[in-house]
Amino acid sequence: MQGYRSGMQSPSTIKETLTQASGGRRLAGHVAIVTGSSTGIGRETARYFAREGARVVIDYVTHDDKARRLCDEIQAEGGDARIVGCDVSKQDDVERLVDETVRAFGKVDILVNNAGIEEEHLFVEMPFDVYKRTIAVDLDGPWLCSQAAARRMIEQGEGGRIINVSSVHEDLPMPKNAAYCAAKGGLRMLMRTLAVELAPHGITVNNVAPGAIDTPLDAPVKQDPEKLEKLLAEIPLRRMGEPEEVAALCLYLASPAAAYVTGSTFVIDGGMMRQSGSL
Ligand SMILES: NC(=O)c1ccc[n+]([C@@H]2O[C@H](COP(=O)([O-])OP(=O)(O)OC[C@H]3O[C@@H](n4cnc5c(N)ncnc54)[C@H](O)[C@@H]3O)[C@@H](O)[C@H]2O)c1
Repeated sequence: MQGYRSGMQSPSTIKETLTQASGGRRLAGHVAIVTGSSTGIGRETARYFAREGARVVIDYVTHDDKARRLCDEIQAEGGDARIVGCDVSKQDDVERLVDETVRAFGKVDILVNNAGIEEEHLFVEMPFDVYKRTIAVDLDGPWLCSQAAARRMIEQGEGGRIINVSSVHEDLPMPKNAAYCAAKGGLRMLMRTLAVELAPHGITVNNVAPGAIDTPLDAPVKQDPEKLEKLLAEIPLRRMGEPEEVAALCLYLASPAAAYVTGSTFVIDGGMMRQSGSL
C-alpha cells in the first residue's frame, strides 16, 4: 500500500506525492499573507495556498529575485499573487503589508507568520544585539503581523486564520540558541492567548512546530557530515523533513477542515521530540 511509509521515501518521492495531493480548491476565495515567503517553508506554503485557490501575498525582506520568481511561477500555474517587501519587525512596514494586501485583493483571511532568523552563540558570549534582532523578527514580527491582520479580520467580520511557524524549540531547549528558543517559546504563549482572545471573532490561531527541515536555515548542518549524522541519529524517521510537508500542514490549518482547531501546536519533526536516546 502506498503512502504509510513516507518516512522512508526519498525527498523527491515525498515532494511528488504531496504535489499530486494538492491542487484542489480548498482555499478558493480566500486571501493569504505568508511572511518571509521568498525561500524555504514560506515559499512552499505560498505555492500550496495558491494551488488551492487562495490569492497570496508573498512577503520578502531579502531575495526579491526569488520572490519575483515565485510570483511568476504561481501566475504561470493559473494562481494569483502579489509581492510586498516588508520587514516584519517594523510596525510601519507591517501596516503597509496589510494595507497593500487589502488594496490588491480586498481583504485578508489568512496570515502565516513564517519569517524567522537564528544565530548560534554560547549564551555567555551572545551579543545583546543578536538577542534583540532575533526577538524582533521571531517574536515581535508575529505580534505586529497578527495585530494588524486581526484588526482587519475583525472589521471584515468573517473570522480568519493565524498560523505561526514556530519550532520544536518552542518547547525543546537548544544550547547555543537561547535567543531563538526564547522567541519561539514566547510565540507558543502568544498563540495560546490569542486563540482564546480572538475566538469570539471566529479567528483561529495555531502553531506549526517543525523539527529539522531541509531549507536554507538548516544548510550549515547539511554541509557538515558529522553534524548531519548526529542530527539524523536524533530523528526516529532518520531524515530531515521537506518544506512541502510543513506547507501541507499549514494548508490543513488554513482550510475549512480545521475550523474547530485553535490554540494548539502541531509538531512536525519525524518523531524527534519523542526520541528517548539510549533508553
Ligand atoms: N528549517 C528548519 O529546520 C526549521 C525548523 C524549525 C522552525 N523553522 C522555522 O521556519 C520558518 C521558516 O524558516 P526556513 O527554514 O524556511 O528558513 P528560510 O531562511 O528559508 O526562511 C526564513 C525567511 O524569513 C525571511 N526573513 C528574515 N527576516 C525577516 C524580516 N525581518 N522580515 C521578513 N522576512 C524575514 C528570510 O528572508 C527568509 O525568506 C522560520 O520561522 C524558522 O524559525 C525552521
